[in-house]
Amino acid sequence: MQRYDREAAGKTHIVSRGDEDLGSKHGKDRGLSRASGLPDGDVAKEDATVHTPVLLAESIDLLNVHPGGLYIDGTLGTGGHSKAILEKCLPGCRLLAIDLDPAAIEIAKARLGPHAESVTFVNDNFRNVEAICNSLGFRPVDGVILDLGISSAQIDDARRGFSFRFGAPLDMRFSPAQETKAAHLVNELSEKDLAQILATYGEERRGRLIARRIVASRPIFSTLELARIVESALGRPGKIHPATRTFQALRIATNEELVNLESTLKQLPALLRARGRLAIISYHSLEDRIVKEFLKNESRDCICPPSVPVCRCEHAATLRVLTKKAVRPTPSEQAENPRSRSARLRAAECL
Ligand SMILES: C[S@@+](CC[C@H](N)C(=O)[O-])C[C@H]1O[C@@H](n2cnc3c(N)ncnc32)[C@H](O)[C@@H]1O
Repeated sequence: MQRYDREAAGKTHIVSRGDEDLGSKHGKDRGLSRASGLPDGDVAKEDATVHTPVLLAESIDLLNVHPGGLYIDGTLGTGGHSKAILEKCLPGCRLLAIDLDPAAIEIAKARLGPHAESVTFVNDNFRNVEAICNSLGFRPVDGVILDLGISSAQIDDARRGFSFRFGAPLDMRFSPAQETKAAHLVNELSEKDLAQILATYGEERRGRLIARRIVASRPIFSTLELARIVESALGRPGKIHPATRTFQALRIATNEELVNLESTLKQLPALLRARGRLAIISYHSLEDRIVKEFLKNESRDCICPPSVPVCRCEHAATLRVLTKKAVRPTPSEQAENPRSRSARLRAAECL
C-alpha cells in the first residue's frame, strides 16, 4: 500500500490502489457505533442507504470524459459519479478518488467492483488536492468533479448525528479523525459566535434567539435534544422542520465546508491540462455563490474593482465557463430524488 503523508498536519493518510484493502469493513459492519451516553429513546437504530448520484448525465457530459484520461473525483461518496466516469474513460484511464470519510471509501470500493483497480483511493480532505497530486505524480488531469456536501449514506446513518430524524450524539464529522464535533461548537462557543454561525451558514434569521436558547440549555448531548430546543424557540410553523437550518449550519461549521471549498477551487486550474474540465455540484446558495464567483474571476483577464481605471491586477484568465446559468435537475430527477432539488451544477474548461 502506498502512503501519503500530509506535511502540514503531520498525519498519515491512507492511499490505496483499488485492489488493496483499507483494513475495515463496509456496510452494516462498519464499526462506527460508539457509547453514546444518551437516554435510551435518544439513540436510533442503524439505517444503511446508498446515495443516488445527482445530475449524473449532465456532469459527466460537461466533464467530456474520454478513454485514457486522468480524472479526479474529490468527493467520492458512495462512488456514483466515479462509476460513471470510469465507465466512459476505461480502458487506459486512472481516477484519483478522494473522500474524508473512510466508510464512504469502503462502500465505493465495493460498488465499483473490478473498475476499482483503475482507482487510487485517498482518505483525505480535498483541500489537500494539489499536495496529493504532487506526491502521486497525478497531473495534469483531464477533469475534476466535486459533488459537495453530504451523501444520503451519511445523513441516513443514524449514528453520525447529521439528522434530527434519529437520536444520536452531536457528531456531524465527515472524518472520524477530526477532533472537533458539532457537540463542541454547541456546548463551547459563545452565544455571539453560535448566532453568527446560524446566521451565516444556515441563513437563519432567528439565529440569535436560537443561540440564546442553546446557551441556556447546555450541556446538550443529542440531535433530538437540540432539535427540541430549536423547536421550543421557533415553534413549528411550516412544512420544514424548524431545526433544519440549524443542523445545516452546524454541519457546515463543524467540517469547515466553505473554507475547504474556497481553498480547493484556487488549486484546480493549475492541476488541469489545457481543455481539461471542471464540474462542481453545490447544494445551497452559499456554496453556489463561491463557485459562481470563482468561475467568473478565473474567466477574466482583469479582476480589478470597477473603481480602478487602469488594470493593476495582472490577472490572466485560466478558465472558460461552460455553464452560463447553473444546470438544475430536471423535474423528473427532482421527483425521483427529492434530495436533488437544491442542486446546481457549474462547469468550466481550462484555457
Ligand atoms: C454528496 S457526497 C458525494 C456523492 C458521490 N458523488 C456519489 O455519487 O456517491 C459528498 C461526499 O464528499 C465528502 N466530503 C465532503 N467534504 C469533503 C472534503 N473537504 N474533502 C473530502 N471529502 C469531502 C463527504 O464525506 C461525502 O462522502
